[in-house]
Amino acid sequence: MGEDFGYFDPTENLRPKQTTILEVGPRQLPSVDFFRQFPSAKVVFVSLEPAEFDYQTRVPGSNYVQANALDFLTSNDPAIPSDGFDFILVCNTLGPSGEELIARNLSKFVPLAYSRLKPGGELIFEETYGHVKPKEGGYITRIIDRLGFNAQFLTNPKYTLRKGNWGEGCFQIVVTK
Ligand SMILES: C[S@@+](CC[C@H](N)C(=O)[O-])C[C@H]1O[C@@H](n2cnc3c(N)ncnc32)[C@H](O)[C@@H]1O
Repeated sequence: MGEDFGYFDPTENLRPKQTTILEVGPRQLPSVDFFRQFPSAKVVFVSLEPAEFDYQTRVPGSNYVQANALDFLTSNDPAIPSDGFDFILVCNTLGPSGEELIARNLSKFVPLAYSRLKPGGELIFEETYGHVKPKEGGYITRIIDRLGFNAQFLTNPKYTLRKGNWGEGCFQIVVTK
């Protein structure tokens, strides 16, 4: 007969933990290459825009929440894991266009996103469209640093979100918790 451990499950810490990923503003371009590296991850998309296609078919088991990421991250939405995300991805939203609310709200967005990361988790901004030049990316990195976060500017990152888009002038800003 097995020993009775009551409510305590001694195997809990030995079980592999599921990777959890939030992508902000995916539009038609989910970070396919990134997700391929984490095939069993639980993925949540949040965007101001309605879903353009069936994300659940492209990324099985994913959730799509139509909301401002700033509101979503402050909410009790059940799609937010209680222990936080492993990765929060934000691709091509640092541009100057008026709709890029993330760019205009970095001082709110970065602390909020950071608070929703697991220890060791990463907030990854990726710019691949050339709308934001590396020099401007360096400036944004220093702004995030000055907010008190350890931001790294990378032109040769560990993971790229979509490899096909990567080239000269592309960069990431990575904030690790
Ligand atoms: C330029 S598009 C980039 C789309 C995609 N990530 C890409 O790389 O092609 C920026 C996207 O971010 C979304 N977005 C901007 N600010 C947002 C916010 N505060 N909350 C949620 N989505 C936001 C926009 O609605 C838009 O879909």
